[in-house]
Amino acid sequence: MSHPKIANTDHDVIDVIRARWSPRAFDLSRPVSHDVQKQLFEAARWAPSSANEQPWQFIVADRFTSADGFAAMLAALNEGNQSWAQYAPVLVLAAARIEMEKSGRPNQHAWYDTGQAVSMLTIQATSMGLGLRQMAGFDRDKAQIGCRLEPPFEPVVIMALGYPGAPDALPNEKHRAGETQPRARRPIADFVRYV
Ligand SMILES: Cc1cc2nc3c(=O)[nH]c(=O)nc-3n(C[C@H](O)[C@H](O)[C@H](O)COP(=O)(O)O)c2cc1C
Repeated sequence: MSHPKIANTDHDVIDVIRARWSPRAFDLSRPVSHDVQKQLFEAARWAPSSANEQPWQFIVADRFTSADGFAAMLAALNEGNQSWAQYAPVLVLAAARIEMEKSGRPNQHAWYDTGQAVSMLTIQATSMGLGLRQMAGFDRDKAQIGCRLEPPFEPVVIMALGYPGAPDALPNEKHRAGETQPRARRPIADFVRYV
């Protein structure tokens, strides 16, 4: 029997794509070593980007090495996200440099490129047995101040990262149930057309 979160795909895809999902429950007894974190950022590093600007920046709040940093990033999350993310081993803020380093002009693709880097990081994390959930539910000003993020960098997303844990540790019933609900997607015909 397969895990309920494994994607039930209409067409064949590589296993790591099928296996990726966004957990809220993490195993708090398993820190994510800095060597492992380096592997994740290495994967992000090799993402493609417009003009090879590599506009992403990652700010790491590891509860095991910086309780203060972790508390500051957690405080930027909205209440719903705090309720489960407070038990994550690591929080990571992904930020985008919205100005081209070379020309100083606006980088129209900064968020897009940062998303691609996060996607690479996520796939690497999945392949190593880690879980990751991205969050847009946070206060941008709090994140900017708490993480000492200066313009031209903008906060894009905060990620909770760790080894997946038991759902029953989650305080919220809906969140507990969400850990085993099958994942649903629109059919390809809804978003692909040929010209
Ligand atoms: C940009 C972005 C923002 C998200 N924001 C939140 C969030 O604030 N809180 C949350 O619990 N999940 C959040 N998610 C997770 C999505 O709800 C999740 O990816 C989606 O339901 C699909 O589930 P799956 O990743 O398990 O396939 C976010 C995901 C992305 C990519």
